[in-house]
Amino acid sequence: MAWNAFFRSNIEPVMAYQPGLRTEQIREIAVTDEVHKLSSNESPLPPFPSALAAMAEKLVALNEYPDGSSHDLTQLLAWHYDRTPEQIIIGNGSNELLDLIAETCLQPGDNVVYGWPSFVVYQSSAMIADAEFRQVPLSSDGSYDLKALLAAIDERTKIAFICTPNNPTGGVVSQDALKRFLDAVPPHVLVIMDVAYEEFIDEAQAPDAAKPLAFFDGKRPYVVLKTFSKMYALAGIRCGFGFAPAILVEMVNKVREPFNVNTVAQVGAIASLEDAEEIARRRALNTEGRSRLQACFAELGLRSYPSQANFVWVEVPDAATSFEALLKRGLIVRPFAGANGLRITVGDEAAVTAVIAAFEELFDWRQEEARVESWRG
Ligand SMILES: Cc1ncc(COP(=O)(O)O)c(C=O)c1O
Repeated sequence: MAWNAFFRSNIEPVMAYQPGLRTEQIREIAVTDEVHKLSSNESPLPPFPSALAAMAEKLVALNEYPDGSSHDLTQLLAWHYDRTPEQIIIGNGSNELLDLIAETCLQPGDNVVYGWPSFVVYQSSAMIADAEFRQVPLSSDGSYDLKALLAAIDERTKIAFICTPNNPTGGVVSQDALKRFLDAVPPHVLVIMDVAYEEFIDEAQAPDAAKPLAFFDGKRPYVVLKTFSKMYALAGIRCGFGFAPAILVEMVNKVREPFNVNTVAQVGAIASLEDAEEIARRRALNTEGRSRLQACFAELGLRSYPSQANFVWVEVPDAATSFEALLKRGLIVRPFAGANGLRITVGDEAAVTAVIAAFEELFDWRQEEARVESWRG
């Protein structure tokens, strides 16, 4: 059977997304009952109490289709962020919005540019749309190098993705650097700011971190994408949103599935959006856990980036072996092929403590030297 004839030729080289191990899988490998899933940058905390109540109440209405225009959520987002409803797009996760924009805008022969390592969907969405992709190395602090990104743009560049804080390194671009980039970027390039982790930025630690929505005027080809999956702890219901010029929203609406955002997601998002107190509390917890992890890595002489997200990238001598060793200790993290790094989500207090204990056991050379010394002695 000549199956290849059925498929578009550009799909074959696309790599399917590899999800992290499930907690049940690791229970078979781990030598401990205490298991922490730290591979997908999920919140260690449940959804906000207000969201749980609103979502539970809506379950009886699931016989009906969702509101295909996400009317109430669109209105609330427009009001909350002081934009017009025509400038709001909502998707089945911000992942869907990345795919939809690529599908709406890219043609064969176009290219997209983005930093690397970064979120893998920039590449796959371009490949699925039969466009080319260009990866630009990050700055030494793990943030996007916007000068280099600008230099990679040519007359066939349709989209420039900027991820800040960047997944997987956590680095942020500054407001000044973003302004310089936007002043210089040619008008045929759609700039997509992916700020999935923005709510975790600690102002005290990163006072000059970019505020990408400040540059959104609804006129220039500029999009800001956000999500309810991370800070709002709603990864399981799939809800992302963004700000885009009204004409782009109109075009994406032609391409998207009619009921792309489910009923439970819409009410959960509405109930979460305005709980500023809960966001501040969770941000502080994240900063504390992140600082403990970074202090541990520094103490052990392992290089990590100054992350402003809910994860930390740490360089280890051998990522594959370290990944397996952490699995045995009940810790599911994310290794990156081709780079000796592990991305570790900042979990709850117990998870952070478990990561620190495992790293001290695996990487504390001084203990090892002391053991050798005592053995020699
Ligand atoms: C940088 C970045 N953007 C977008 C997403 C997609 O998030 P979601 O589809 O859950 O909104 C993720 C998910 O991990 C991410 O890391």
